[in-house]
Amino acid sequence: MFVFLSSLLLLLFLSLSGYLEECLCRALPIFYPNPTRISSTRISSIPVPPLLLSPANACSPPPLLLILVSSAPSHRDRRDAIRQTWGGLASATASSSLTLFVLAVPDKAEERSALVHEAVTHGDIIQANFTDSYRNLTLKTLTGLVWALQKCQGAQFLLKTDDDVFVNTLALSAFLKERQGLQYLGRIHWRVAPFRDPENRHYTSHEIYASDHFPPYCSGTSYFLSLGAAGHILQEAGNGPWPPLEDVYVGILAKAAGIAPQHVAKIAGSASIPHNSCCYRTMYTSHRLTPQGMQEAWNMLKETEDHWCPPLTLLFCRTFGQPLDKGEN
Ligand SMILES: *[C@@H]1O[C@H](CO)[C@@H](O)[C@H](O)[C@H]1NC(C)=O
Ligand SMILES: *[C@@H]1O[C@H](CO)[C@@H](O)[C@H](O)[C@H]1NC(C)=O
Repeated sequence: MFVFLSSLLLLLFLSLSGYLEECLCRALPIFYPNPTRISSTRISSIPVPPLLLSPANACSPPPLLLILVSSAPSHRDRRDAIRQTWGGLASATASSSLTLFVLAVPDKAEERSALVHEAVTHGDIIQANFTDSYRNLTLKTLTGLVWALQKCQGAQFLLKTDDDVFVNTLALSAFLKERQGLQYLGRIHWRVAPFRDPENRHYTSHEIYASDHFPPYCSGTSYFLSLGAAGHILQEAGNGPWPPLEDVYVGILAKAAGIAPQHVAKIAGSASIPHNSCCYRTMYTSHRLTPQGMQEAWNMLKETEDHWCPPLTLLFCRTFGQPLDKGEN
C-alpha cells in the first residue's frame, strides 16, 4: 500500500512539474527522420524581404546566446523594460547573451521614423521590409533566423521570444552549456489542430497545411534552437505562403528536418508564473509581464540571487501559473 501510494505521489509530482513530459519526449526522435545535410545556398535563397535596419558588428565577439525578441513598433515601453532588465548590458556580460528586437514596417510615418531613431540610439533593432502585422509574424521569425545565420554565425544558441516574456538570462548559460548537438527546446504543444474557420486570426487553410494535427512544436513565447538546428530548419522553408503561427511553422520545418523538440519543464510557455522571487529564479521564462512587472521580476531575481528556495518550487510555480485563456495568444 505504502509503495503504491508513494509511486502515485511520485508520478503526480513528475507529471505536474513537467518532468514526465521531459522524459517522454526523449523518445520522440525515434519517430523523426535523420537530419539532412545543410546547404548554405538553400538558406540564402529563402525569400525574406530585404533588411532596412541591421545592427552592425553586434555579433563581434559572438555571444553564447542570441536572443531574438519579436516586437511590435508601438511597444517601445516593453523594449525599454527589457533593455533595463534581462536584455541589458549587465545581464549580457554575466550571461554571454545578446538581445536584439525584430520588427517590420509600421503603417504610420511617425512610427517609422521613431523606430529609426530608436535603432540609432540603441543599436539593437533588426527591421525587414514588410508590413508589421499579426498575420506576418511567421515572416518576422524567418527574418530573425536568417539574420542569425548570416550575421551571427559564431553564436551557439538562439532564443526566439516575445516582448512580454521575462527571461532569466542569469540561469541560461549553465543550462545551455550542457546541451550539445542539434537542439530545439521549449514547452511542447502536442496534437494541436489547425483552425479552419477563416474568421479566426489563426486561420490555416488546407493548402497551407493539410493534416488534421500539427506535429509537436515548442510554444512561440520562448524556444531555443542551436545555431546548427536553425540552419537545418531554415533550409526546409518554402517560398510561402506560410502558416500564420510562427511556432507551428518552426515545428513543421523541424519535423521535415529531422529535429525533434525537447520539452523543458522550466520554460513556462504561454503561462505566466506566480509573481514570486523563487519562481523567477527557478524558471527560465515567464509570459505576460507588463513593463513594470518586468522590472519587479528582475529586481526580485537580482536581490535574492543566493537565497534559499524550498524543494518543489518548480511544482509550485507550474501548478499555480496562470495559463492563457483559449483563443488568446
Ligand atoms: C520596401 O518596400 C516598399 C514597398 O514594398 C518599396 O517601395 C521600397 O522600395 C522597399 N525599400 C527597400 C529599401 O527595399
Ligand atoms: C505582410 O507583409 C506583406 C509585405 O509587406 C504585405 O504585402 C502584406 O499585406 C502583409 N500581410 C498582412 C496580413 O499584413
